[in-house]
Amino acid sequence: GKMEEITNVTEYEAIAKEILPKMVYDYYASGAEDQWTLKENRNAFARILFRPRILVDVSKIDLTTTVLGFKISMPIMIAPSAMQKMAHPEGEYATARAASAADTIMILSSWATSSVEEVASTGPGIRFFQLYVYKDRNVVTQLVKRAERAGFKAIALTVDTPRLGRREADIKNRFTLPPFLTLKNFEGINLGKMDKTDDSGLASYVAGQIDQSLSWKDVKWLQTITHLPILVKGVLTAEDTRLAIQAGAAGIIVSNHGARQLDYVPATIMALEEVVKAAQGRVPVFLDGGVRRGTDVFKALALGASGVFIGRPVLFSLAADGEAGVRKVLQMLQDEFELTMALNGCRSLREITRNHIVTEWDTPR
Ligand code: FNR
Repeated sequence: GKMEEITNVTEYEAIAKEILPKMVYDYYASGAEDQWTLKENRNAFARILFRPRILVDVSKIDLTTTVLGFKISMPIMIAPSAMQKMAHPEGEYATARAASAADTIMILSSWATSSVEEVASTGPGIRFFQLYVYKDRNVVTQLVKRAERAGFKAIALTVDTPRLGRREADIKNRFTLPPFLTLKNFEGINLGKMDKTDDSGLASYVAGQIDQSLSWKDVKWLQTITHLPILVKGVLTAEDTRLAIQAGAAGIIVSNHGARQLDYVPATIMALEEVVKAAQGRVPVFLDGGVRRGTDVFKALALGASGVFIGRPVLFSLAADGEAGVRKVLQMLQDEFELTMALNGCRSLREITRNHIVTEWDTPR
């Protein structure tokens, strides 16, 4: 059938587009405004080429790594994305099971259509919780404590969303959460629903509930309400890298929110090296945005990332084939990455170096 014929991650998008209601597909696929950064997140990977090393014994290859002390099968993890039950009835449960079957980490979104407790009940697995900071700090404190109790191992604090980016498809579609779903983590406190407005319903929800005054002192505040390590998600500059480390971040995620927030920021793979240099090895640096191939993963690691996260491929494969789809996405990326390592002469992640790539912005050697 159709699903067996899929040979790479991007092929799921066309299937998802056929299956999903237009409002849902557009919400998942879109970027902000001109979507320049959306295209750039992909295009930039093509400006990096390999300098493979030959005649290295690559009969055994080790993809395993450790993230915040947790051993996982590969440096490929699942980024938080909201409202996964719009893609498939099993939504976040399917994603959680697929991540755990692949022995990798899933970050659950604050705006999941399944609660932290429900996702925890799907079985064992290493999971992080993505946090949006609400104006009502009691809401935040309770939610972080619930995530901690449910066994989540870290907080990914999203810092690029004081207001929602202008996603024009969502405005045209008057995007809102379908009536049979809720933002499950907020169900009991009357924040689980989104009004239908003549704008994007999500943009209105963010304007009403999310704290636009969030600042570095709040990163410190967060450490007073939880002992979980904090990853700062949405860093694109050396300046903010240094501030994040000063504020106590345990790690940094170089992210432009899948090009859904500020348009005309650089592709994440273009910003990565600046952040890695500023971090000076003091905390691990991760990347998300446009990762669709094993070669992309290798390039990110060669530029100093400790691992990558994938967003849309999870949503599209979930829509097309539920848990099996997400499993296959993770498997295909793992296989491609392993092959990329072999063909570059690398047997472990440690052996991937800056000299295995050349970028368009490198000066000729
Ligand atoms: C996201 N992303 C996101 N990030 C976050 O911190 N909290 C969230 O709730 C969401 N929700 C969300 C929904 C959808 C539909 C998308 C596409 C993305 C951003 C996500 O974590 C990640 O940064 C990007 O998706 C990575 O880029 P790619 O892999 O989608 O290109």
